[in-house]
Amino acid sequence: MRAVVVVESMFGNTRQVAEAIADGLRPTVEAEVVDVGVAPETIDPEVGLLVVGGPTHAFGMSRPASRTQALQEAGTPGGSPDVGMREWLEHLAPSRRAS
Ligand SMILES: Cc1cc2nc3c(=O)[nH]c(=O)nc-3n(C[C@H](O)[C@H](O)[C@H](O)COP(=O)(O)O)c2cc1C
Repeated sequence: MRAVVVVESMFGNTRQVAEAIADGLRPTVEAEVVDVGVAPETIDPEVGLLVVGGPTHAFGMSRPASRTQALQEAGTPGGSPDVGMREWLEHLAPSRRAS
């Protein structure tokens, strides 16, 4: 079984949590952390555990405007506000994994 931790993070806090989760899983399963901006929209059937996490923006999941603000405040070079966890989950294909 593999585990994937998909993370959205502009300031690095959620990324630290994601890395800690992956580190905690690794003695048991293969685990990787993937940035939401490059995460695939179809999850490999070998992935048995999918963990997702992102920051709280305006009492909820981030939106393009809040990510733009966060990227400006964080001074993240090359960061894009286009895809956050909200958008990625909306486009995520249904799992085809047999139960
Ligand atoms: C635009 C914006 C809106 C935010 N709104 C909230 C909020 O409603 N509640 C909260 O607890 N934190 C809020 N925060 C703080 C972030 O959730 C916090 O800084 C978080 O650690 C950022 O995660 P990151 O380091 O992974 O980007 C907001 C931050 C930004 C930039």
